[in-house]
Amino acid sequence: MNVLLLGSGGREHALAWKLAQSPLLGTLYAAPGNPGIAEHAQLAEIAIDDHRAVIDFCRRNSIGFVVIGPEAPLVSGLGDNLRMMGIGVFGPDKGAARLEGSKGFTKDLCLREGIPTAGYVHVRSCAGGVAALVDFSLPVVIKADGLAAGKGVTIAFSHAEAVAALEAIFADAGGSAVIEEFLEGEEASLFVLTDGTTIVPFGSAQDHKRVGEGDSGPNTGGMGAYSPAPVLTPALERIAIDTIVRPTVEAMARMGSPYSGVLYAGLMLTRVGPKLIEYNARFGDPECQVLMLRYQGDLLELMLATAKGELAGRPDPVFSDETALTVVMAAKGYPGTPETGGAIRGIDAAQATGALVFQAGTRLDGETLVASGGRVLNVTATGRSVSAAQAAAYRAVDALDFPSGFCRRDIGWREVAREG
Ligand code: AMP
Ligand code: GLY
Repeated sequence: MNVLLLGSGGREHALAWKLAQSPLLGTLYAAPGNPGIAEHAQLAEIAIDDHRAVIDFCRRNSIGFVVIGPEAPLVSGLGDNLRMMGIGVFGPDKGAARLEGSKGFTKDLCLREGIPTAGYVHVRSCAGGVAALVDFSLPVVIKADGLAAGKGVTIAFSHAEAVAALEAIFADAGGSAVIEEFLEGEEASLFVLTDGTTIVPFGSAQDHKRVGEGDSGPNTGGMGAYSPAPVLTPALERIAIDTIVRPTVEAMARMGSPYSGVLYAGLMLTRVGPKLIEYNARFGDPECQVLMLRYQGDLLELMLATAKGELAGRPDPVFSDETALTVVMAAKGYPGTPETGGAIRGIDAAQATGALVFQAGTRLDGETLVASGGRVLNVTATGRSVSAAQAAAYRAVDALDFPSGFCRRDIGWREVAREG
């Protein structure tokens, strides 16, 4: 079967690497892709926000299945349009992708279904938001309602900061915001595959969203991750599935928007149990990279079963017992304006240590691989503990020659400290 993979980040490089191992695969195409993805797929020059162009490409190249990596095409309904044309899709339709696309939708669903999450109000005007602040203690969390690529969240430590965040959100006409109670605890990410009815656990991870060591500085898309996340014990995972994920999947089915694809639950492990911070309608980036290193099965076969509604009765996916850990090499300046164009050398030397280097923001400048975005490489390694995986990943980082790049040197620090 010919498959089209959409996206251009490290997540998609990891998916391409794994899909390419499937005996069911005919030709793998990717759009827009990157030079790393091009090692496993034929790149197609189509604009992935042009749904008609994607469908035309699928027809011309006998594509039977499309794997959608990022959230934007899911939220804009590419899945619906492909399915309408009889093309299989990994990823939810527009109605189900509201779980990521609209925080207000998700919070309202949690309230109706009694799903544990931070207390909140969903406000539709700045004045309404400011008036609602009296019901919250500090710090208070202010979120823009729509897709914001991780940048729509403010944790306000003063009333003035909270008001400023609300004003920024409502500066655009038609804004809407969620004001939330601040949750205390450790964060963990839980992944499940679902076909709308059956739920299959697909691993856990912990990522590092802040740019600086010790989790300091501004938020980013993620500076590193490891899987599994031992803080999400099997008992807590079961509680999270029973109290958060299953009621969500059932509610989506009841409202006529069954969810098909991977559902990524961002959890806060509080003293009273796991609470939902947010859902994503896709794999995390860079969490996907560590999940793919550990997943032992045929990814294409599992994605096809998900899309066809055939997850019932299958054995649970098998993951390696080892820890996988990925370090993001970013271009200097990220998450502000990254310095692009810097040469990247030493990928072969890094991979000779046993690690895998997934590419994100890269492009070829003649023969030279150069940085073309904020997050550039994901140096990914496995080990028998988080400490061992971390040591292996940094050995590979040190073999790279990427002078205009930087990384955090402490990915996995919480677990490394616990491992002592
Ligand atoms: P989100 O975009 O919703 O994932 O939020 C980004 C980050 O903000 C999360 O990963 C958390 O670290 C933090 N955050 C979001 N909501 C809350 C909350 N209610 N309490 C504490 N931290 C939060
Ligand atoms: N790494 C966080 C995300 O993909 O949303």
